[in-house]
Amino acid sequence: MLESELQPAAPAETVYLKDYQKPDFLIPTINLAFDLGESTSRVTTLMKVERNGGHERDLVLHGEKLTLVGLKVDGQILSPNDYSQTELDLTIFAVPNSFELEVVTELIPHLNTELSGLYQSSGNYCTQCEAEGFRRITYFLDRPDVLSVYTVTIKANKDSCPVLLSNGNFVESQTLEDNRHSARWHDPHPKPSYLFALVAGDLEHITDEFIKASGDRVELCIYAESHNIDKCSHAMESLKKAMRWDEDVYGREYDLEIYNVVAVDDFNMGAMENKGLNIFNSKFVLADQESATDMDFEGIESVIGHEYFHNWSGNRVTCRDWFQLSLKEGFTVFRDQEFSADMGSRAVKRIRDVQVLRNFQFKEDAGPMAHAVRPDSYQEIDNFYTVTIYEKGAEVIRMMHQIVGAQGFRRGSDLYFERFDGCAVTTEDFVACMEQANKVDLSLFRNWYTQAGTPEVTVKQHYDSAAKKLTLDITQSCPSTPNQATKQPFQIPLKLAFVNKNGEVSAEKSIELTDTKHSFEFALDYEPTVSMLRDFSAPIKLVFEQSDAELAHLAKHDNNGFVRFEAIQRMALNILLPACREQQTEPKQRDVLVNTLEYILANPPTDQAMMAELLTLPSQSYLVEQLGSNVDPEKICSVHQELSKHLADTLKPHFEALYLSLSSSSRFSIDSESMARRALRNKVLHWLAATGQADSLDHAYKQYTSANNMTERMAALVALVHNDDDRSDQALNSFYKQWQNDSLVMDKWFGIQAMQPSVATVKQVQALLSHPGFSIKNPNKVRSLLGAFAGNLNAFHADGGYELLADQIILLNGINPQVGSRLAGAYNNWRSFVPKVQKAMKNQLERISQTPGLSKNISEIVNKALA
Ligand code: TRP
Ligand code: ZN
Repeated sequence: MLESELQPAAPAETVYLKDYQKPDFLIPTINLAFDLGESTSRVTTLMKVERNGGHERDLVLHGEKLTLVGLKVDGQILSPNDYSQTELDLTIFAVPNSFELEVVTELIPHLNTELSGLYQSSGNYCTQCEAEGFRRITYFLDRPDVLSVYTVTIKANKDSCPVLLSNGNFVESQTLEDNRHSARWHDPHPKPSYLFALVAGDLEHITDEFIKASGDRVELCIYAESHNIDKCSHAMESLKKAMRWDEDVYGREYDLEIYNVVAVDDFNMGAMENKGLNIFNSKFVLADQESATDMDFEGIESVIGHEYFHNWSGNRVTCRDWFQLSLKEGFTVFRDQEFSADMGSRAVKRIRDVQVLRNFQFKEDAGPMAHAVRPDSYQEIDNFYTVTIYEKGAEVIRMMHQIVGAQGFRRGSDLYFERFDGCAVTTEDFVACMEQANKVDLSLFRNWYTQAGTPEVTVKQHYDSAAKKLTLDITQSCPSTPNQATKQPFQIPLKLAFVNKNGEVSAEKSIELTDTKHSFEFALDYEPTVSMLRDFSAPIKLVFEQSDAELAHLAKHDNNGFVRFEAIQRMALNILLPACREQQTEPKQRDVLVNTLEYILANPPTDQAMMAELLTLPSQSYLVEQLGSNVDPEKICSVHQELSKHLADTLKPHFEALYLSLSSSSRFSIDSESMARRALRNKVLHWLAATGQADSLDHAYKQYTSANNMTERMAALVALVHNDDDRSDQALNSFYKQWQNDSLVMDKWFGIQAMQPSVATVKQVQALLSHPGFSIKNPNKVRSLLGAFAGNLNAFHADGGYELLADQIILLNGINPQVGSRLAGAYNNWRSFVPKVQKAMKNQLERISQTPGLSKNISEIVNKALA
């Protein structure tokens, strides 16, 4: 059918959870044959279709940007009267109750810049189907509650595509005429279309094996372009650890003969859990000592774990509809967080996860895109792969884990996996399993799934020395969010302990809030310093006035890593927030903070990574969020900079001594102790460089030139560039010369420059947009240059910053709207700022919203921001 014959699609509509209907038809089996050609590729789909229920409705299939070249029902070619098409669907009239449908479509993968559906990356074919990409491959019921058994045949040129992969187990390959060949794959596990995957190209691979607890052998393969194949071993080790961990902790085994992972350079997100054929952003596969930082190594372990864990939490048990996205994502993030905690330092992992939550999710929850962990409407599902669905979703699971305990949680997850294996279910089904397996009532707890916004918990402490009794009066409230003016109370688990004058910590206690107001009493023969919200046991804002002396006591003596970290954050906030609001602060407060840091430097915790966290100031974006309204970005930058410089100068002798004591060891290793030592050394270098003094910056320069690994080289380069050292340009140039052909390292090079805290960064980023190493079509490049720029408070809010980003968002609208709409989120909190800033940000939002042909992705974000 010609484009001009298509009826126009209806305007972008809102999808509501309340409108959910079970599918009218089911598709128990599907046979896909791909004929990958020079320019166009042909897909022949044979499916068994069955009417679901006693209705007489037509069959309506999803399909987008497809050319339909053939359509048969039970072998009969359909005439144009038998069906109709729009830009979004294909309706076949009066179909039988059970029949075989053949659909032939044509697509042009090399023109697909959206990276959704079948596309090319570095010349190799790959797919991305979540959430709604399968409909760009063939006409189908592209919804997660339609599960089918897939058989896939791929035909392609032998030279350009020696490797042909799809989901499941390998069946056979054949040599064909014209230097072509084919391979067939069969996946016995019924799955929704979003888990379909295909890879075809010129790739190398490494192999290994895993022996399951039950004794079976699984073949493990990781594919990458040949020049990267020697960077895959860390991903392989991580995969084997993840497989063992899921057996040990959840009793879950893998369920196919082979597990394939493919690294591609052009990818919209981190990675994708396609059944038996994970496709990864190469950033989360490739690493070696020379080119990857410890953070990269940790990121790989965590994302490899995440996608592997999806095999049960996502694939074997999947989502009924996309409103249930957190069913798989929240649970799987919780699983990967715990996996990383078990592989390294639990306290440090918790602190870093809380930082992500507070720097990004709290901000989302306070802005125009605030939504519940289980939202009840959306316009574009791609926009709902958010920190709320992922990170807050994981916090919600973590709270249930806290409430029912580790063993109870395992009983609940066993029941869930057993009861719903092979099913497409809801977050409600998950909670019900936790309830039934533990005989607890989680009715109030469900508010975490349906209400948006970050609850605020206020604690007031009284000690009655005559009655030897401590009383904690606790109240909770939650601000309104779009379409949710008032909120019901949440069930909030709080872990706490009491610290006495000598710094001894009591046994940990758990209390639960179930109402807006509570009073808890504890018999106690001393007045304690309360160690509240241990491990950040709930995703809330705690309002608890503790004096700087009490906070210092916790920072020095508490045995909970998170509370120690938090005490220092709060001491710093007590100085920073009033200063941002032009209120008076006492110089004494700075002294208490300095003394506390001196104490920690003199009495370091054994975990050096923990030490590095204790030496960290709250981020500028956390300050924006904490201030909430009338924020002046310039003021935040100067206030932050001033405190940072004061601490750096005052503590310089201590940092100097510590830095020298941590001298780089010649043998590089990525065990957690070595990584912790590098983390601390780099943190101390950061402080030394913040003095801006020549002798300190010499340390950075020396570390830059002598480093034998990227972790130390990169931290040194950041120290030079971000403190505007005279040698920055020279260092950036030498870095470029050395790494210009390594795309992932070039991402770091762009990122360092985009994060430079200076108004001059606007010009620099503008110039880098035309650098030969930059490409607007590569999402990693966009994130490392433009994403980093949008997060740079000094630069984004400087003259020309908003315009620069808006120009690129408008450009991306025609190239990759998914990536463009992520960047558009940078304007979401425009109402938090001072009027002058508000006006300038709003102007750019309006300019973006008036772009002709604005995608659904970007229009949902900007229109909600403007509403
Ligand atoms: N399910 C993927 C994950 O969390 C996320 C993902 C990968 C994704 N690619 C995507 C989501 C593209 C939307 C669009 O591991
Ligand atoms: Zn996921």
